[in-house]
Amino acid sequence: METHGVTKAKTLDELIQILHKIFASDRINVEEVQDVMEAYDSNVDDWKMYSKFDKLRYTRNLVDEGNGKFNLILLCWGEGHGSSIHDHSDSHCFMKMLQGELKETLFDWPKEEGGQMTERSHKILKENTVAYINDSIGLHRVENVSHTEGSVSLHLYSPPFQTCQVFDQRTSHKTTAQMTFWSKFGERTPFTTTATKENN
Ligand SMILES: [Fe+2]
Repeated sequence: METHGVTKAKTLDELIQILHKIFASDRINVEEVQDVMEAYDSNVDDWKMYSKFDKLRYTRNLVDEGNGKFNLILLCWGEGHGSSIHDHSDSHCFMKMLQGELKETLFDWPKEEGGQMTERSHKILKENTVAYINDSIGLHRVENVSHTEGSVSLHLYSPPFQTCQVFDQRTSHKTTAQMTFWSKFGERTPFTTTATKENN
């Protein structure tokens, strides 16, 4: 279905099919991807099989591998859960709100290590909206600041990446973090004994 020139996905499966078509091309149009993701009206029945919350921190649940062109990941944020400040490994990052709200805080890349990182701006991401970031825009932190409600967001990373850099706000010190999955395609992934920082 076409609405204002944007193909409107009625279900998450339809959205994934449309994304596969878009990303089959070598050049991607950020605005087109954003519009297509925004046009999908979140329906919990479409994505509840991927929605798995943990008490301690937010979870990353792999939904689709985008024919190797992108990763589509459902993130479940319990009350008060948040990410570190992180980069996106030279990839595009689209973030669509499926349920609840998230606070996104933007930071500049630190000029030198040792200093405090200062917040550039922040905004509240509302249900069904899509935020976009890449390394040339800057760094961000994402948090569910609600004390009463969980939130769920759908993230598309292209090209997919396995590690990113996380930053200590007080010192600007950066470390490399592994991207790990709490579940893949709806199935809980085996526990690893390695302590890893998860980021997105
Ligand atoms: Fe991010």
